[in-house]
Amino acid sequence: MAQRETWATRVGFILAAVGSAVGLGNIWRFPYMTAENGGAAFVVVYLLAAGLIGLPAMLAEFTIGRKAKKNVFDAFSSIGFPAWRIVGLLGLVTGFWILSYYSVVGGWVIQYLLGSFTGTYFGDPGTFFGDISTGPTTVAYHAVFMLITVGIVALGVKDGIEAATKAMVPSIVVILVGLAVWGVTLPGGAEGLAYFLSPDIDALLSNLDTIIPFAVGQAFFSLSLGMGVMITYASYIGEDDNLAVDAGSIVVLNTAIGVLAGLVVFPLLFAQNVDPGEAGAGAVFVSMATAFGELPAGELIGAVFFGVVLVAALSSAISLLEVVVSYTIDNYDVSRVSVSVAVGAIIFLLGIPSALSLDTFGLYDEIANSLLLPTGVTLIVTFVGWVYGRDAVAELRQGTGGFGSFASTWLWHVRVVVLTAVVGTLVLSVSELLGISLFG
Ligand code: PHE
Repeated sequence: MAQRETWATRVGFILAAVGSAVGLGNIWRFPYMTAENGGAAFVVVYLLAAGLIGLPAMLAEFTIGRKAKKNVFDAFSSIGFPAWRIVGLLGLVTGFWILSYYSVVGGWVIQYLLGSFTGTYFGDPGTFFGDISTGPTTVAYHAVFMLITVGIVALGVKDGIEAATKAMVPSIVVILVGLAVWGVTLPGGAEGLAYFLSPDIDALLSNLDTIIPFAVGQAFFSLSLGMGVMITYASYIGEDDNLAVDAGSIVVLNTAIGVLAGLVVFPLLFAQNVDPGEAGAGAVFVSMATAFGELPAGELIGAVFFGVVLVAALSSAISLLEVVVSYTIDNYDVSRVSVSVAVGAIIFLLGIPSALSLDTFGLYDEIANSLLLPTGVTLIVTFVGWVYGRDAVAELRQGTGGFGSFASTWLWHVRVVVLTAVVGTLVLSVSELLGISLFG
């Protein structure tokens, strides 16, 4: 079997992980979830979840991947715990599951990108979303998005994923900052800012049973946690990276880009008099399209915006596909190209129902975020905290130089705080999914 690939540079690894984290989760899902859950109160819980749960959980995934140098399934046996491969299996299933509907949203983005050049959606943005979000054409663009994803993954770790994300991530930041600065100055912009940034504490406290599961689930989704992306990416680390610094940079950058997206979306929504809670999964698309329709040079600004969203979506989609591809090439003597094509084709088929019905689409998304990812994170955190334990600390210490005592603090934080929080989230999420209210 060929020698295992590695990242060319440490920055390449960080940017690939940021590229995985930053995607539709930040730009499409975060504003939409914030709007559905009442605004700034949701943002507060999300930020706490990203820092207190997401960051330590990401480190947990890194310690598995860097030590094992294997795909998500075999990583567990490679470090001596074959029974825990079940967690890897769940990760593989989740990868198929999420990419199947993620790619449908990717297809929407391509249609908006094309529609921007010609101004097709300018006249009636609401109807445009209805027209493009389901149906045979939606299936076709879902196929186009999968094809591009397959193409990048087929090129490999260095030449495909690393090269692509290096260019993508900086361009996302530059363009979002520009749009945010402009959006805040619009009439109504300040009101949008307040909705996004000034939490109503009473509303927060009385809605904790829904805000917590949605906000924590969103943090997992946005940081690509709970399904082995970070295990897989850390398995390609060649040199002795400082995992804590890497994870810290990834979480900060990802959170910043989510907040930036909110700073773009909410002022624009309010400037257009769109009620954020009304728009559903189309919120970002409809609001942005409305704004671009009324702007001078809206075709150009729209094309730039949706171009960036497409880039962000692709750099996440490739990580979802890579988890499955990595498993297959580690185990079978098949070429990266043929595996990428075959897996891509299966995922495309799995996504067709979501491209035909928004209800099915919503169900896929909810199962992923309320069940699959929280279960994955809970199992990984249990494993790293209580089973892998001291070896995880040793792995973290490697290359962490001055962080010696930080590593054991991290372990206890994972064992107690993170584990309690993720189990609590899982209970709330599953009851939310089943429609049971735990707090009366
Ligand atoms: N983090 C990605 C986003 O925010 C989505 C994703 C989830 C990617 C899980 C990989 C794994 O768009």
